[in-house]
Amino acid sequence: MSIARCEGVVQIYRAQDVEVVALRDVDLVVDEGETVALLGPSGAGKTTLLWLLAGLLRPSAGRVWINGSDLGSLDQRKLDRVRAANLGVVLQNPGRNLIPYLTAAQNVAFAQRGLRRDRRRVGDLLDRVGLGDIRDSPAGRMSGGEQQRLAVAVALANRPRLLLADEPTSQLDGESGRAVVELIRQAAEQEGTTAVVVTHDKAVSDGLSRTVTIRDGRVGSEGRRGENLVVVGREGAVQVPPEYHHLLPPGSRARIEPLADGVVLRRVEG
Ligand SMILES: Nc1ncnc2c1ncn2[C@@H]1O[C@H](COP(=O)(O)OP(=O)(O)OP(=O)(O)O)[C@@H](O)[C@H]1O
Ligand SMILES: [Mg+2]
Repeated sequence: MSIARCEGVVQIYRAQDVEVVALRDVDLVVDEGETVALLGPSGAGKTTLLWLLAGLLRPSAGRVWINGSDLGSLDQRKLDRVRAANLGVVLQNPGRNLIPYLTAAQNVAFAQRGLRRDRRRVGDLLDRVGLGDIRDSPAGRMSGGEQQRLAVAVALANRPRLLLADEPTSQLDGESGRAVVELIRQAAEQEGTTAVVVTHDKAVSDGLSRTVTIRDGRVGSEGRRGENLVVVGREGAVQVPPEYHHLLPPGSRARIEPLADGVVLRRVEG
């Protein structure tokens, strides 16, 4: 079963007189138990897609489902309920995920919400991200990297069905980064938490079960088990990956030669 789904999602930001098309016709299905790395260059639309999945932004067009609920059809109260019941979110700016005057332990406990407080889980999560020793320090006084690790613990506090994390290891060294990936993997294996993780870090994407690469607002390719496949878009569009731009540069012309099971693109000079 799919826990998250996007169909024909378009996101256009309007600022003063300019329009920025951040996502164009994105289709994506995330199945339960998957751990997906969302990759792509800066400005590709990764954060935008994460915010749409998190219900923090409504798409300009298209639909987003979380655990079977069409987010666009919900009023704010129902949307909040679906989010609380299903999602753990780590925003790109680590400080924004935390309540600065509460301690690390209080932040995690607070995120368990109305559910039975589970002190053991609070301690366990903090230990696993390496913050056990500073569990009583206020979040606002922690370093960016500590806040980032705390944000992941907070997002997992409530055993969410879907973890949405935006570059959760960008300020971490190799060792803390690995601890965060391990925590995400164990949440998937032991608690069935599906994860979508935006990352530039190959060590993170290698640790997850699938990659989805966004370029210029479209899903360009998807990978599993080390093999990366281009995705044929709605209009038949295919993105030639950058590593082949020297053979088929953007703007060049190509002849399409059909085969029994696909086509070959051959550059035509002039
Ligand atoms: N609030 C906004 N108003 C106007 N344009 C925006 C807004 N947020 C994002 N954009 C634009 O939308 C596009 C996609 O932005 P987004 O933040 O989703 O990219 P990203 O892939 O997360 O990049 P990065 O890796 O740098 O975080 C960019 O061109 C960006 O400038
Ligand atoms: Mg981003």
